[in-house]
This record gives sequence, C-alpha cells and structure tokens, in this order.
Amino acid sequence: MSYENILFEIKNHTALITINRPDKLNALNGQTINELDEVFESIKNNSEIFIVVITGSGEKAFVAGADIAELNKLDIMSAKEFSEKGNRVFRAIETLDKPVIAAVNGFALGGGCELALACHIRFASENAKFGQPEVNLGIIPGYGGTQRLARHINSARALEIILTGDMISAEEALRIGLVNKVFSQADLVTKTLELAEKISSKGQQAIRFALKAVKATDNISLTEGLAYEASLFALVCGTEDFKEGTTAFLDKRKPAFNNR
Ligand code: COA
Repeated sequence: MSYENILFEIKNHTALITINRPDKLNALNGQTINELDEVFESIKNNSEIFIVVITGSGEKAFVAGADIAELNKLDIMSAKEFSEKGNRVFRAIETLDKPVIAAVNGFALGGGCELALACHIRFASENAKFGQPEVNLGIIPGYGGTQRLARHINSARALEIILTGDMISAEEALRIGLVNKVFSQADLVTKTLELAEKISSKGQQAIRFALKAVKATDNISLTEGLAYEASLFALVCGTEDFKEGTTAFLDKRKPAFNNR
C-alpha cells in the first residue's frame, strides 16, 4: 500500500508511522486522516505487527493540527462530518488491541495533541510543545480534545489549556502527566523504538489482555473492572504463553513466547 502523506514501515514487529507533510508542519488534511484510517485498518489485520509508533516528519512538528486551509471552508454540516470522521479514526487508534506509542517530536497542537492523546503511551522530545489553540481560531477542539485531555490530566488544568489556547512545554507536559518521558530530539525515536522492542519481546497475548483491561477503565466502574480483570486473567491462564512464562521462570531460563 502506498500513501501520499504518511510513511509506513514495519521492522521487528513494530509499525512506524511518520506523518509526512513537513512543509505544512504535518497538519492533518482530509487525505492524511483517510490514510491514517487505512493504515490502522491494515495494522489491525496484520499479525506480524505487535506495536505501533507514530511520529512526525522533520525537526519542528509532530502534527501542528488539522489543516486550517481546509477548516476555513467548513459549514455546519461538513463540520459535523469532519469532527465525526476524525473522532472515528482516533477512536480506532485508541481501541486498537496493540499498543500505540506517540513519539512527539515538536509541535503537537489541536489535532496533533488530540492524536497524541488517542495513543496509549506518549514520549516527547525536549522541544515538543502541546496545546489546543482552537479558541484562537474561533472554534473548539473537534477530534476528542475536550474529552480526552480532561480525562488524561486534571480537568481544571485541561480547561486552562483549552480556554487559553496557550502552548505548554515538554517539561510541563511531563510534570502534569501528559507525557510519560522526555528525551533529546536526537534520541526520541530510538528510545521509543527501544520501548516498542521491549514490549514486543513479551508474550503478546498477555500484552493484548493487559491493554484491554487497562483501557476498560475508561468506561466502567471499579467493581466491573475487577470482575473484567478476573475474566481476562482466567483467559490468559489458558494460553501457551502462560505455561511457557511460568515454567521458564521455574527452570531459570528466558521464556520463548509463541508470538503469533
Ligand atoms: N494547518 C495548515 N497549515 C499549517 C498549519 C495548520 N494547522 N500549521 C502550520 N501550517 C503551515 C503554515 O501555514 C506554513 O505554511 P506556508 O509556508 O505555506 O505559509 C507552514 O506550515 C509553516 O508554518 P509557520 O506558521 O510558518 O511556522 P512557525 O514556526 O512560524 O509557527 C506554529 C509554527 C505551529 C506556531 C504555527 O504554524 C501555528 O500556529 N500553526 C497553527 C496551529 C493551530 O492552530 N493548530 C490547530 C488547528 S485546529
């Protein structure tokens, strides 16, 4: 499959997606959203891929938002379709049964911040800047920002970011728990791929069950969540990986997981 605005490669069970419109700071136009939709559909069905990393092309931006030239032409009906489409694509990322890591290498604004928020883990470079500047354009976030930012960080802090449109630094993003770790720009992708490799080396059935269980906390109560965890725990104990992992420990050797 070939894409116009994204680069896609698979290496050692990791899919690396690079949003590639550096002259427009990787702004998400309709074509790029369609391509993200397609690439995630293909990732879902590709058993060779265990984990996904998303980054941006160039040294300035992860994604500087939705494409404002396209936004400018929206009317009420097309705006609803625009928002619903982006929300559907980002929700597919968030609910993918494989971990998705954002390597935020510069501006993550508007749709870029929202894309990072839909990922399961966020690493950033020291020059990264996060923000929801939509109010500066007379609009509100439309790809999940109002919902996910307030769920990922303190809701008063989320409101401050959304109501002011101000950008925050990578250091501040780390302090408020918006990103997991910060690296120099030169190290960011390498460190992210190292994390991907570490996760890929585990039994992938356990990884998928663990992801499912943790993501369920978005929708259910603690009581329901504990019951769900017990069911998934029982299921994972029916896998070959469970036998191999526990036996390898007792035999004092490294497990050889059957990752298919
Ligand atoms: N949509 C469309 N084009 C965008 C864009 C976006 N979201 N963000 C940047 N670009 C384009 C610029 O128009 C410019 O294109 P040009 O060279 O054809 O004029 C190019 O990317 C480089 O951007 P520029 O503004 O010159 O870079 P800068 O370093 O001076 O500023 C930003 C960087 C990120 C602060 C600035 O580009 C910006 O504010 N972008 C919009 C961010 C935003 O509001 N996003 C939310 C959209 S809902």
